[in-house]
Amino acid sequence: MEEKIQSKITRLKKEKNAIILAHYYQRDEVQELADFIGDSLALSIEASKTDADIIVFCGVKFMAETAKILSPQKKVILPVIDAGCPLADMATAEKVLNMKNEIGDVSIVSYVNTNVDVKMVSDICCTSANAINVVKSLEAKKILFVPDKHLGEYVKQNVADKEIYLFDGYCLVHDSFTRKDIQDLLKIHPEAKVCVHPESPMEVIELADFIGSTAGIINYCIKNNAKEFIIATESGIVFELKRQAPDKTFYTLGSKSICANMKKTTLKDVLNALEREVYEIILTDEQIQKAKKPIERMISIKR
Ligand code: 13P
Ligand code: SF4
Repeated sequence: MEEKIQSKITRLKKEKNAIILAHYYQRDEVQELADFIGDSLALSIEASKTDADIIVFCGVKFMAETAKILSPQKKVILPVIDAGCPLADMATAEKVLNMKNEIGDVSIVSYVNTNVDVKMVSDICCTSANAINVVKSLEAKKILFVPDKHLGEYVKQNVADKEIYLFDGYCLVHDSFTRKDIQDLLKIHPEAKVCVHPESPMEVIELADFIGSTAGIINYCIKNNAKEFIIATESGIVFELKRQAPDKTFYTLGSKSICANMKKTTLKDVLNALEREVYEIILTDEQIQKAKKPIERMISIKR
């Protein structure tokens, strides 16, 4: 049954000159058939340079929107209409501009995990892979970091010469991780190296041997000599970790580490997306023009 779906997807992809992009948090079977898997930054870059006519984006809405902004002439499809990101939905342009008005004279740095209206009012975007470098690259001394308070706090710890104001947003998955979760795992696996995504609270980041984006964590685990790793991020990442390092062992934070929205996309949805070309991301020219500037500015900054 599964085999049949996969071959249909492969045939349709060829017929329609489509490409399937998938985030590391997607279901194993979706990652397996994707043409490109990556972290948010790599996926944005890939979307901007592909010559496919259709991009099927297996991830959440802000990622597909970013692809559309960077490749406006292409049809960008999100297979599940309500695959959203609760963190992105916490910030609206109105809330962000109100904060800016209260603080006065700040540059707005918005995490790519934002909806298009927030990107439109931002000076520059960032991802977890480049947030520190992006903030350091700015001349402005006052920064409003939107919407993830934990990533913002992590940036604050690493950029001494700026006044950084934080929006009060958080990812439901990473925010649930605690110091005790890591300590309990370390009691059972004392040799394990601890890898933490910077959307996690500072008490978790403080226990990390490595802090970085999903791609950064994979790179660290592949290159490090250790055999065991505690992985404080969404559990879908283990598929790629096991593929690249089958002899190593990875411990996640169990049911806490599942992003329900990232898991909504099934193979059936991918097939439906290719057959019916739904659900297309539609943005106005104004949205694309305004939101493109902060994303392109981010891409020009080194990781
Ligand atoms: P990355 O940018 O590390 O891929 O993370 C995306 C994300 O949604 C984290 O929760
Ligand atoms: Fe959003 Fe968190 Fe899911 Fe990432 S893991 S998509 S930040 S809810």
